[in-house]
Amino acid sequence: MKLKHLIESQQLTVDILSELFSVADDMRANPKKYSDSLKGKILAALFYEPSTRTRFSFESAILKLGGQVIGTENAKEFSSAVKGESLEDSIRIISAYADVIAMRHDEEGSAKRASEVSSVPIINAGDGKGQHPTQALLDAYTIKREFNRLNNLKIAMVGDLSSGRTVRSLCYLLAKFKEGIEIIFVSPEHLRMRGDIKEYLQKHDVPFRESSDLNSVLQQADIIYMTRIQKERMSLEDYEKAKGKFIINKENFNLIKPTARILHPLPHVEEIDLPIETEKQDKRVAYFRQAENGLYARMALLLHLLKD
Ligand code: CP
Repeated sequence: MKLKHLIESQQLTVDILSELFSVADDMRANPKKYSDSLKGKILAALFYEPSTRTRFSFESAILKLGGQVIGTENAKEFSSAVKGESLEDSIRIISAYADVIAMRHDEEGSAKRASEVSSVPIINAGDGKGQHPTQALLDAYTIKREFNRLNNLKIAMVGDLSSGRTVRSLCYLLAKFKEGIEIIFVSPEHLRMRGDIKEYLQKHDVPFRESSDLNSVLQQADIIYMTRIQKERMSLEDYEKAKGKFIINKENFNLIKPTARILHPLPHVEEIDLPIETEKQDKRVAYFRQAENGLYARMALLLHLLKD
């Protein structure tokens, strides 16, 4: 089974994930083998919202596979969106110039709209509060590499769970490996995980619970998936109420099990306040390895979407 577009993480079946993980591992081990795999192919990186990891890793991914990249880092200002062009018209045009489009947009559902008019694959690189399926792909790839399994894990998701598209996409993926999976949501009262995800987990028999006791959760979890309070997606009042509420710092870090891992989609701000030496040396800090894994996961995805 081959994907045409990647809009939501539910599309990533266990078989597709297994193929992508294995190709990603091979690409890491044998980069030369793949250096011309997508020669002549063009990626359009169309970002209406800021990004460091997703845009740079997609651009690096296509270049490492022998392809080329066109795009804009600020499509809101530097594309004809500023003149009032609809997303649909922009996508119709760009899909005539590129072989694949990685798109980030501030509106939930925008990637789906783009896929309905595009003649080339659309990759949802984040659509507002909706989904971020390639983040979930690299998160799952990281979990597989760190634990050598995607089941029998207790996963705490911490922070801004109502606006967080990464945790939403990851919940959908974890539901595919549900044996022994348990999720603990830790968030400020006003930023709790939305009902649609809870209903999905219930329907797929994935146990979850909510907690406000981070220190207790840190002692139990195998994975602590931290997220940033997304100031840009809420009122200043809501942000002030949430800021600094759930933090990992020198004081509570050693409550975390020696075998556990801290993940974070990044960027992080005050929710992780650890010395650089700890970040460098302690194996439990996995978020920089996680970001690096994004390169290989996205290379594997591009090959999957563009191979003949
Ligand atoms: N994780 C993530 O999407 O990071 P960027 O916003 O830097 O792309």
